[in-house]
Amino acid sequence: MREIKRILVVGAVGQIGSELTLALREKYGADNVVAAGRKTKPSPALRDSGPFTWCDVVDREKLDETIKSFSIDTIINMAAILSAKGEKNPQACWDVNVTGLINTLEAAYDHNLTQVLCPSSIAVFGPETPRDNTPQETVLKPTTMYGVTKVTGELLCDYYVRRFEVDARGLRYPGIISAETLPGGGTTDYAVEIYYKAIEEGRYTCFVREDTSLPMMYMPDCIKATMDLMAAPFDGLKHHGDFNVGAMSFTAGELAAEIKKHIPGFEVAYEPDFRQDIADSWPSSIDDTSARAEWGWEPAYDLAKMTEDMLKRLKERHERGELYQAGA
Ligand code: SER
Repeated sequence: MREIKRILVVGAVGQIGSELTLALREKYGADNVVAAGRKTKPSPALRDSGPFTWCDVVDREKLDETIKSFSIDTIINMAAILSAKGEKNPQACWDVNVTGLINTLEAAYDHNLTQVLCPSSIAVFGPETPRDNTPQETVLKPTTMYGVTKVTGELLCDYYVRRFEVDARGLRYPGIISAETLPGGGTTDYAVEIYYKAIEEGRYTCFVREDTSLPMMYMPDCIKATMDLMAAPFDGLKHHGDFNVGAMSFTAGELAAEIKKHIPGFEVAYEPDFRQDIADSWPSSIDDTSARAEWGWEPAYDLAKMTEDMLKRLKERHERGELYQAGA
């Protein structure tokens, strides 16, 4: 495996990209991690800590130009339209998630890049998939366009590995919970919004039922998983674009109860909408034996530890006047 020297993070202004870019800058050197956004302005932390450029991953010419002008050897493609937003505009979801991915893989081949990382999601699973301890190898028949694009993405990554020897990697993120940047239109967004509302208003109306259980992960574990997979020797990998990664699973009711331990007056109501059907089609918990065996995956945060940290960080941001209304 060649050394990773100069990374382009596409979708760097999003929920994961914004924090992952800063962590990559720590590890690989600030000037060696180029953040690329499409429309949304970067936060001062992202803009001021290293190079920033505009690049829409659907625009292949612009991608090529960016790779050349910054001497990029590795791309992390975090640009995606998530599950709930994807149901409102399936065509746009396909364009960003699949055309963007094909562009990344083709560019990796043409420019002989060292590595590309294109995340997948628990959305690849569907109602026919076993819900508990969902195996690595199982039925992939998703019911959302987002899921369809992510199954396609996994197959494309594995195809480019086999056919063109591109080093393409990916993991099936569960719902990601974080205190810096809000997620942009997913089904698991309630598990982030609830913390913001607990701090800002002391009440939250949750868009899934109280007994809805999904796999989740705290951002520090998400960053660790991503960076550990990037650093793993290629020869030790049997899987490539589709690693199951688990961390914790809880129901919406259990999440509310954990927050109430810190904010006793916190009130939650449940008003399920169209996202309930999506949540019901996804696993409750994940078997990540392959990730543990092939690159040493091990999460550090459970629900209690995450909740303590989330509330502390959001409270600090609230006191600095930084919080926006979540779920608006
Ligand atoms: N968080 C994503 C979503 O809810 C799942 O990968 O769409």
